[in-house]
Amino acid sequence: MTDKTILRALKGEVLPTPPVWMMRQAGRYLPEYRATRAQAGDFLSLCYTPDLAAEVTLQPIRRYGFDAAILFADILLLPQALGADLWFVTGEGPRLSTITTPEEFAKLKGKDDIHETLNPVYETVSILSRELPKETTLIGFAGAPWTVATYMIAGRGTKDQGPAHALKAEDRETFSKIIDLLTVSTVEYLSKQVEAGAEVVKIFDSWAGSLKGQDFEDFAVEPARKIISEMKARFPGLPVIAFPREAGEGYIGFHQKTGADCVALDNSVTPEWGAANVQVSGCVQGNLAPGHMVTGGQALIDATRHVVEAFKNGPHIFNLGHGITPDADPENVALMIETIRNG
Ligand code: CP3
Repeated sequence: MTDKTILRALKGEVLPTPPVWMMRQAGRYLPEYRATRAQAGDFLSLCYTPDLAAEVTLQPIRRYGFDAAILFADILLLPQALGADLWFVTGEGPRLSTITTPEEFAKLKGKDDIHETLNPVYETVSILSRELPKETTLIGFAGAPWTVATYMIAGRGTKDQGPAHALKAEDRETFSKIIDLLTVSTVEYLSKQVEAGAEVVKIFDSWAGSLKGQDFEDFAVEPARKIISEMKARFPGLPVIAFPREAGEGYIGFHQKTGADCVALDNSVTPEWGAANVQVSGCVQGNLAPGHMVTGGQALIDATRHVVEAFKNGPHIFNLGHGITPDADPENVALMIETIRNG
């Protein structure tokens, strides 16, 4: 039995006030995050130092009392654990050694060989499950296979995921092997997070929107379905949030097709559209535009009320449509929460 609000919403309960958390809530917009990151030296050291990763996860909980904490880590730690080199270039983003040939694929490790690298992440989860306030839900996560594959194939972030689409067209076998390895490895990675204390898991498919038609079914829906069904077989009742960002019409039926308890909406859809087309199938999360955290004011208050109002007749977890940006003003986050909780 639980009265944690996020878990209640994930079971389908309609609450008078939606629970709230924010993607990237531990991040550079917070001075205390920047201080801890400086102490760690660099971003990856922060991810792999359990005490510091737990500290930055807790910072937004202390400051704002969010209803959930999300493990501080990154979706690209899994490819690193599989043997890809990973580093971050300041001001530019992630870089990885590329996997585009059968020979490069063959050098990767297997699904059961990832834990030595990822053990510090599980340690972070277990620290958090001890230290979080009892009303706060702990969310673990992984990237979806397609999104992680786009970085592994290109060796970096790309606007249109061109290199991954090219490999899919030119060497379907290697492409499918990468997706399949990521699918089974993600199950092992998430299972360890749950064993360490994660109460919910979220699958981030940030680039799902670039998969069209049958590709969306094969590489966004099907890997999510496999991961969710295996996680639920291992951990009966485990709630799962899926985020097929910019899926458009692909959002319709995503709950049923994948077994996700909650589908997170981005800002390419209006709250009214999400309520009519997605919330009819289950809990939704979203979808205030992150730009309001920069601009604030009456527009932030109005937009926050609009999101709450549009989703009030079904299960809803309040969130942004994507991560909060480094230029956001911490005061605006407080104003958003105040508006959600006090009208
Ligand atoms: O949401 C959270 O607060 C939990 C931690 C988390 C991070 N990344 C921390 C992070 C989560 C869930 C992610 C997911 C992630 N990482 C995604 C999917 C979600 C999305 O945003 O679309 C993706 C595509 C990545 C890969 C990644 N990591 C990129 C492209 C970048 C560079 C862009 C940037 O903002 O600098 C990162 C770095 C990263 N991951 C930061 C954080 C807080 C910034 C690192 C820093 O402190 O410099």
